[in-house]
Amino acid sequence: MLPTKVFIFILICYRATADVNDRYYPRYHLAPPYGWMNDPNGFSEYRNEYHLFYQFNPNSSLVPGIAHWGHAKSKDLFRWEHLPIAMYPDQWYDKGGVFSGSAIVENDKLYLYYTGNVNNPDQYPDHQQHQVLAISTNGINVTKQVINPIINGTEYQPDFRDPKVWKYGKTYYMVLGNSFHDNDTNSTLGRALLYTSKDKTQWNFASILDESDGSLGYMWECPDFFELDGRFVLLFSPQGIQPSGYKYRNLYQTGYIVGNFDYKTNMFTPITEFVELDHGHDFYATQTILDKAKRRILIAWMDMWDQNYVEAEDGFTGQMTMPRVLSLDKNNRLIQRPVKEIASLRGRTRFSGRARAGAVIRLRDKAAEIHIKSSPNNDLDILIESSNASNSVLISYNYQRGLVTLNRGGKDGVRRTKWRPESDKLHLKAYIDASSIELFFGNGEVTFSSRFFPTGAVKVRIGGSNDVESITVFDLQRTIDASYEIESED
Ligand SMILES: *[C@@H]1O[C@H](CO)[C@@H](O)[C@H](O)[C@H]1NC(C)=O
Ligand SMILES: *[C@@H]1O[C@H](CO)[C@@H](O)[C@H](O)[C@H]1NC(C)=O
Ligand SMILES: *[C@@H]1O[C@H](CO)[C@@H](O)[C@H](O)[C@H]1NC(C)=O
Ligand SMILES: *[C@@H]1O[C@H](CO)[C@@H](O)[C@H](O)[C@H]1NC(C)=O
Ligand SMILES: *[C@@H]1O[C@H](CO)[C@@H](O)[C@H](O)[C@H]1NC(C)=O
Ligand SMILES: *[C@@H]1O[C@H](CO)[C@@H](O)[C@H](O)[C@H]1NC(C)=O
Repeated sequence: MLPTKVFIFILICYRATADVNDRYYPRYHLAPPYGWMNDPNGFSEYRNEYHLFYQFNPNSSLVPGIAHWGHAKSKDLFRWEHLPIAMYPDQWYDKGGVFSGSAIVENDKLYLYYTGNVNNPDQYPDHQQHQVLAISTNGINVTKQVINPIINGTEYQPDFRDPKVWKYGKTYYMVLGNSFHDNDTNSTLGRALLYTSKDKTQWNFASILDESDGSLGYMWECPDFFELDGRFVLLFSPQGIQPSGYKYRNLYQTGYIVGNFDYKTNMFTPITEFVELDHGHDFYATQTILDKAKRRILIAWMDMWDQNYVEAEDGFTGQMTMPRVLSLDKNNRLIQRPVKEIASLRGRTRFSGRARAGAVIRLRDKAAEIHIKSSPNNDLDILIESSNASNSVLISYNYQRGLVTLNRGGKDGVRRTKWRPESDKLHLKAYIDASSIELFFGNGEVTFSSRFFPTGAVKVRIGGSNDVESITVFDLQRTIDASYEIESED
């Protein structure tokens, strides 16, 4: 089904309203105006606004199709404005998809590095992936460069993609995801390759940052590499990791390895194992930036391949997580906290105080921020209820077992991980938004990001038999919808 678009001319603005049903459309998370969204791309800060591009199929919300780059910008990471499609698959090197990539800003120009996918993914294995460059001088119009492709990567085909670029000193660095054949084990393994450049266009292979030994999958997508609190973090989305206990339950994972890196030798020395970054159902293909306030901000696709969520019938598929600030704690764990700008969305305080077991708080417009403080020595059960019990979420802490669980019901509804409060109180922040829930336990050392599809009003119920010492529920204002306004040139 193609979404029908209605264009209405209003003074100097074009307003395009897609045929998108609002029931599951996020109120404050970025989602496509219509069609299909997957990976975040080209996350950047340009002329004092955050820009976020994303894998976009304008033709349908039912299938990923041939990727375009969708585009939005925001001053505060929540009030997003949809912009025209930034890139179409219109060159010989990207006719099979304008695949994922990243951005750097220099001399008031936005440099967009991405992977051109040559053939239709359906024609696999007859495909090639090249790294290419496009430039924008106004933050809207994007020009693909005539020198493309800048990296052919003949020896790394066919899975060679997702360039993430940064600058250190006078050198530019690019980390790329790759899949290679290991002759010793006769298996296909994932790895992250590092390239360097002095001029942003001519690139040379520098090193293999790290590779799978077989336990970490056959392909590493969307690698990112950055310094944080004195260490280096290799963050990536491996494909092919087998489920193990509570871990790796999703089709594909996202996680990180912390280590040390030497810019002289380009060698990365891991000091931790691979750790999953989020424990929910829908968290993939992360991208980070260091913004002007020196925050390392992360955003992920809050969806997963092969889910076929009901929203697809509503004219859109996919959304981004809320932006989170990363830090590294003394145990080399990545800590995630919602960016502070979320506070500017707070409306009325719907409830604040002690809540008895069984208490019910009804949310306004299916959107809320919830802060909970409770005893670390009691079980905790919080229900996020929909009018249909099978579309509700149960959040629980099991004191005996030291486990936190998110159960969204249905097939494969449970995600859990070991965790105990590390302070004298159990702290939990939960963000609900029409068809998603994000949980931040403790200081942000454990998070869950999952989609769920509530019908009717959404209510928070204190389950179990214990009172909750303190619960505060804030309304969150709507900051985004499925329409977009573009100031016309004339
Ligand atoms: C998809 O959209 C493009 C415009 O970007 C259009 O040219 C193309 O024909 C569409 N393809 C399909 C299969 O609808
Ligand atoms: C940007 O693209 C739009 C059409 O998409 C065009 O009208 C406009 O002239 C372009 N602006 C520049 C500066 O190239
Ligand atoms: C990549 O291949 C294209 C087409 O064969 C060629 O024109 C271009 O010079 C090559 N670029 C590099 C960097 O090798
Ligand atoms: C694996 O073996 C093949 C065939 O012998 C060879 O072409 C290839 O270079 C080898 N790969 C590696 C990574 O050594
Ligand atoms: C390597 O694996 C492939 C496919 O899994 C198989 O066809 C081939 O015989 C194997 N080669 C060796 C040397 O074991
Ligand atoms: C409740 O949701 C389930 C799963 O989405 C669905 O199969 C069922 O039909 C729904 N029931 C009602 C009464 O809407």
